[in-house]
Amino acid sequence: MPPRRPAVKFFPTMIRGRVFAKDRNRMDHPIAQPLRSHRAPGPLTGRVAVPGDKSISHRALMFGALAIGETRITGLLTGEDVLRTAAAMRALGAEVTRDPDGIWRVAGRGIGGLTEPADVLDMGNSGTAARLLCGILSTHPLFAVMTGDASLRGRPMRRVTDPLSKTGAQFMTREGGRLPMAIRGATDALPLEYRVPVPSAQVKSAVLLAGLNAPGITRVEEPEATRDHSENMLRHFGADVTVETVGNGRVITLVGQPELRAADVVVPGDPSSAAFPLVAALLVPGSRLTIPAVGLNPLRNGLLTTLLEMGADVTVRNQRMEGGEPVGDLDVGHSQLRAVDVPWDRAPSMIDEYPVLAVAASMAVGSTRMNGLRELRVKESDRLNATAALLTANGVKVEIDGDDMIVHGTGKPPAGGGLVATHMDHRIAMSALVLGLVTDQPVTADDAGFIETSFTDFIGLMNGAGADLRAP
Ligand code: S3P
Repeated sequence: MPPRRPAVKFFPTMIRGRVFAKDRNRMDHPIAQPLRSHRAPGPLTGRVAVPGDKSISHRALMFGALAIGETRITGLLTGEDVLRTAAAMRALGAEVTRDPDGIWRVAGRGIGGLTEPADVLDMGNSGTAARLLCGILSTHPLFAVMTGDASLRGRPMRRVTDPLSKTGAQFMTREGGRLPMAIRGATDALPLEYRVPVPSAQVKSAVLLAGLNAPGITRVEEPEATRDHSENMLRHFGADVTVETVGNGRVITLVGQPELRAADVVVPGDPSSAAFPLVAALLVPGSRLTIPAVGLNPLRNGLLTTLLEMGADVTVRNQRMEGGEPVGDLDVGHSQLRAVDVPWDRAPSMIDEYPVLAVAASMAVGSTRMNGLRELRVKESDRLNATAALLTANGVKVEIDGDDMIVHGTGKPPAGGGLVATHMDHRIAMSALVLGLVTDQPVTADDAGFIETSFTDFIGLMNGAGADLRAP
């Protein structure tokens, strides 16, 4: 009898349909899955329920693992990024299971209770998973090694290892502060007082998470307010967190070594995923779509603000609170957009939405200037260049001026016909495919496989609403 394969419990979609490349340097990079977007044969209509919020999903699993008792999570994103976090928390000793009805349960170990992982923690494509976990590990007295895929191994980690070293933790990284890295967490950790030099919720959260297992007060100052899911959820789990607004920014304090108590979490639909069907419906003539239960956290809604300024027909209905976060249903109708100037201080509230906003701007009347996009250079790809290349390949005039991007829209569909290099970046792939719904010639994304990191069943949902996405 052939040996029985162990049941794959935590990666139901991880390996789905993927064939892994033989190339030694790209062992973790699946063979590309190109996808082509043809002009939508008619309007986009109906309801597109987007999957759970990625930021909140990572945090629910991590905080659940650090709490005492059983945390139940409804609506968790089962994209690959979040499954990496689930696997890492399990490797650190938490029990993480998924009920047949889709509810996830995390039996936590308590702060300080994580155990040494027996193997390398592979965070895949996820910067959030890697950086937040650095925070947790820095104040747990254990040894761990962390890596990621080729995209994540190219991303800067000093932004977290520099402040976290001050807890007493030791980090050994590859050249340039890149993954893989070895971490030895501090035994008698010191609490941090840190002013975050770049607007980054990941850095802020890493410092706060380190503070959970350090005695005394951890204080983080951010010059520009970034998404506050960590602060909100830490409170929800019983931590003592204060937030003070100072100018454009905030000062957050956390009282160390609280006893986090398990709490139920309801994950809202991800506004960063909703952005794709939202822009698609604005662009495809005659469309009218509903996107239910989308997160409306004010620190995430810069895209909505911008699209409304551009003349978008978007109505928010049924605003309510779910699991401590505001949510609402979005009704979207096709709209002729006009160009706007997007101020630099809006960037943190829409940092992941610029590629798809640039696609929307290519159909607007006039030139849209997006200011202060420096942070886009260190995302899953260099998104500033990748977005400009996406548009250029499809006949759109675009300029990069320092950290700003200017998209020259004509009010009409661009020519299309381009092959877009996605650079292992899910949002570049989805943005390209949205553009192809309106261009004269189809648009091809060279690899749509990474869409699974954040937006499960993107193709099914979009085609169900009337799009025409298919393999070339
Ligand atoms: C995230 C923060 C953002 C965002 C990322 C998710 C988070 O990154 O781009 O997709 O969950 O904290 P930065 O905080 O580094 O800008």
